[in-house]
Amino acid sequence: MTGAPDAAHGAVDATTAWERLLSIRTADRAVASGLVPDGAGGARWAGAATPEAVWLAERYLPLCLAGPRVAFGQLGQSLDGFIATRTGDADYVTGEEDRRHLHRLRALADAVLVGAGTAVADDPRLTVRACAGRDPVRVVLDPRGRVPRHRQVFTDGAAPTLWVVGPDAATDGVGDGVEVLALPDTAAFAPQRLLAALAARGLGRVLIEGGGVTVSRFLRARALDRLYVTVAPVLLGDGVPGLRFPGTPVMRDALRPPLRRALLGEDTLFELDLRTAAGS
Ligand SMILES: NC(=O)c1ccc[n+]([C@@H]2O[C@H](COP(=O)([O-])OP(=O)(O)OC[C@H]3O[C@@H](n4cnc5c(N)ncnc54)[C@H](OP(=O)(O)O)[C@@H]3O)[C@@H](O)[C@H]2O)c1
Repeated sequence: MTGAPDAAHGAVDATTAWERLLSIRTADRAVASGLVPDGAGGARWAGAATPEAVWLAERYLPLCLAGPRVAFGQLGQSLDGFIATRTGDADYVTGEEDRRHLHRLRALADAVLVGAGTAVADDPRLTVRACAGRDPVRVVLDPRGRVPRHRQVFTDGAAPTLWVVGPDAATDGVGDGVEVLALPDTAAFAPQRLLAALAARGLGRVLIEGGGVTVSRFLRARALDRLYVTVAPVLLGDGVPGLRFPGTPVMRDALRPPLRRALLGEDTLFELDLRTAAGS
């Protein structure tokens, strides 16, 4: 996605498009950045643009404009609905283009939140490396304080980390750059309350990155505005489940939120708009 030749000819290329999108949070700013309403609820570049630049604006402008408070989840799953093998191996379920997409979601977030299971199994860095952009604050939900102190989010100093624990967790031995947020009780871990606590710290745009238990809890609590699910053409048979919530007995009552689809290499991205379901 380098587009220097196109840039030389005046067309907005992918690099320029992404840099501009990173700074857009209001409709006025979108216009100032060269985007104009397309008459169908979206926007297009006012001047010439490469196909990649057009795709980036189509895909991410709605998220750029969704704040100042927005919670968006993501999962990469197999065709049969698993986000990792039964041993917890998620390296990688989806392909390279979805990894770039995930890093773009991080770059558009103030905070990226994972459950303790993911911090234990994956030892993720949660930084932005596959595209340009700032690293979000890393948030680890760990009510029992079970995530080992040597995990990279606690030791690498690459970005601030907020370790959210319950009242009985031992939190000694973490390094600089790690802030402990000790919540008083289980009720304080309710997704809406967690999001309010993050917003009070200036972290209004939150990516719920995984795993399945965590994203499902936010979904069930109607705390997600958007959900990005990437489906890879692979069958795992069993493994770590993705979304789980109390279902409906009949198909006509199933959750069918408005969605957009996109191809990411061999994978398919589903972008669900949950705002109606969330009542926000
Ligand atoms: N493919 C993907 O997109 C993707 C993304 C991320 C992770 N993964 C994979 O998913 C697996 C881990 O997922 P998982 O579903 O088992 O676990 P998880 O969602 O990462 O972590 C779940 C745990 O986090 C804590 N937690 C989460 N939300 C909470 C809340 N609102 N209140 C209190 N505690 C909360 C709880 O810890 P306690 O159990 O201590 O109470 C809970 O059991 C790993 O294998 C990882 O590789 C895949």
